[in-house]
Amino acid sequence: MKTSMEGNSILLLCTSLLSIFILSAAIDTINASQSISDGQSLVSAGGTYELGFFSPAGNSARRYLGIWYKEVSTTTAVWVANRETPFLDSSGVLKFTNGGILVLLNRNETIIWSTNSSRSAVNPVAQLLESGNLVVRDGNGENPENFLWQSFDYPCDTHLPGMKLGRHTITGKEWYLSSWKSPDDPARGNFTYRLDPQGFPQLVIRDGSNEIFRSGPWNGLRFSGFPSLRPNSIYTFYFVFNQTDMYYSYDLINNSVITSCNIDNSPICGCLNGFVAKFQKDWDISDWSNGCVRRTALDCQSGDGFVKYSGVKLPDTRYSWFNESMSLEECNMVCLRNCSCMAYASLNISAGGSGCLLWFADLIDIKVFIQNGQEIYIRMASSEVGMNSSPKL
Ligand SMILES: *[C@@H]1O[C@H](CO)[C@@H](O)[C@H](O)[C@H]1NC(C)=O
Ligand SMILES: *[C@@H]1O[C@H](CO)[C@@H](O)[C@H](O)[C@H]1NC(C)=O
Ligand SMILES: *[C@@H]1O[C@H](CO)[C@@H](O)[C@H](O)[C@H]1NC(C)=O
Ligand SMILES: *[C@@H]1O[C@H](CO)[C@@H](O)[C@H](O)[C@H]1NC(C)=O
Ligand SMILES: *[C@@H]1O[C@H](CO)[C@@H](O)[C@H](O)[C@H]1NC(C)=O
Ligand SMILES: *[C@@H]1O[C@H](CO)[C@@H](O)[C@H](O)[C@H]1NC(C)=O
Ligand SMILES: *[C@@H]1O[C@H](CO)[C@@H](O)[C@H](O)[C@H]1NC(C)=O
Ligand SMILES: *[C@@H]1O[C@H](CO)[C@@H](O)[C@H](O)[C@H]1NC(C)=O
Ligand SMILES: *[C@@H]1O[C@H](CO)[C@@H](O)[C@H](O)[C@H]1NC(C)=O
Repeated sequence: MKTSMEGNSILLLCTSLLSIFILSAAIDTINASQSISDGQSLVSAGGTYELGFFSPAGNSARRYLGIWYKEVSTTTAVWVANRETPFLDSSGVLKFTNGGILVLLNRNETIIWSTNSSRSAVNPVAQLLESGNLVVRDGNGENPENFLWQSFDYPCDTHLPGMKLGRHTITGKEWYLSSWKSPDDPARGNFTYRLDPQGFPQLVIRDGSNEIFRSGPWNGLRFSGFPSLRPNSIYTFYFVFNQTDMYYSYDLINNSVITSCNIDNSPICGCLNGFVAKFQKDWDISDWSNGCVRRTALDCQSGDGFVKYSGVKLPDTRYSWFNESMSLEECNMVCLRNCSCMAYASLNISAGGSGCLLWFADLIDIKVFIQNGQEIYIRMASSEVGMNSSPKL
């Protein structure tokens, strides 16, 4: 009896040593009978990403389950599971419930966070993919179509290659980024970066409900407001826009490169030719919020025309209309016939240009770029048409 008890405990010891050994030999997957406790981790097959428990710099009291670049450090967490509900000690455990749902449990076995998927698998596994995507899938199914859950569907503040920013029109599912509250608190902060589906879609950064940046529309090559986004040897970027999907994404060409964001923003404000500052006094003290107005008011009845401006970021497309098959001439005619149409431009500037984009409201957020700006035709009183139309700052 005693011997067999001893035998059992030696067997148990061996099993736990074995599982420690397995975990320390960098695994990327756990199954329904395995778990990850604080101090253990998963490492993606190529060694790029690590998943485990961490404390943000300057906040060692709180523990979060996150994913970070293994080569950099935990302070570069790219994804956090329990962003709003930290552990106050190191008792956290990641494991499957009997129902096949992946959960984070605290000391009292209370569920702190879960993967909340509508389907469950008979033999579920959680795997940290080399892309940085944590997926829950059936043990024998690696087809992404059949993933039960994936962290790429719940972005935090980092847009990793392969992640979408946008929405699925049919299911209403949205993918967007939200900032951390502060460098030591990954809870949702005030800043969001999402695809605004009104009019022709564009990416918008908001601070609370205030819009602080718009990408301008996708012009077939890039977002109009990202002149520095151009084909390069590091990543390819693309915009999908059809009846079911609208999203922006990018893929790394060379997987050994870690990207960082770079928005080329120019804070200098000015009015285009033919426009003057609405309240010059504000402008003199650098308050550009009230914008520019036309020097000569429009007069639709006696005939307006269009002035072409080159090298600009296209304005806010929230109140816009588009047609993918119209030519620029048809676009001009449609805009001219409708007195509320304020401007038009080619929708897709690749391969010589195609399609039509019309604006029906104030032209907000036009910027002049030295490189990679594009052309817009702005409605002007006939007396202004024909004057020098190169943009000025
Ligand atoms: C999980 O994996 C371990 C180690 O490979 C194995 O011993 C165990 O039977 C597996 N459990 C399930 C439920 O598949
Ligand atoms: C665990 O339960 C005990 C008793 O109900 C409670 O005092 C304690 O705060 C709980 N701890 C956590 C981390 O929820
Ligand atoms: C997941 O959670 C969200 C918010 O808590 C809820 O609205 C949604 O119905 C849940 N989805 C599933 C499949 O349980
Ligand atoms: C977020 O916005 C709220 C309300 O405007 C404000 O009180 C708070 O200070 C802001 N937080 C940060 C971190 O800026
Ligand atoms: C833009 O035009 C090019 C060339 O005609 C075409 O290949 C591409 O699919 C178009 N892009 C979009 C977003 O419509
Ligand atoms: C829209 O594009 C996505 C991505 O290419 C594709 O999976 C989907 O089937 C497309 N939908 C339609 C209706 O073409
Ligand atoms: C990928 O990038 C690494 C590091 O910059 C470089 O050493 C390697 O040659 C690159 N590979 C390719 C195929 O460009
Ligand atoms: C788009 O323009 C084409 C060509 O002018 C026209 O045949 C089509 O009806 C237009 N589509 C819409 C939705 O207005
Ligand atoms: C002008 O276009 C707007 C927006 O599409 C539309 O609501 C309005 O009816 C049009 N007006 C005329 C005269 O066609």
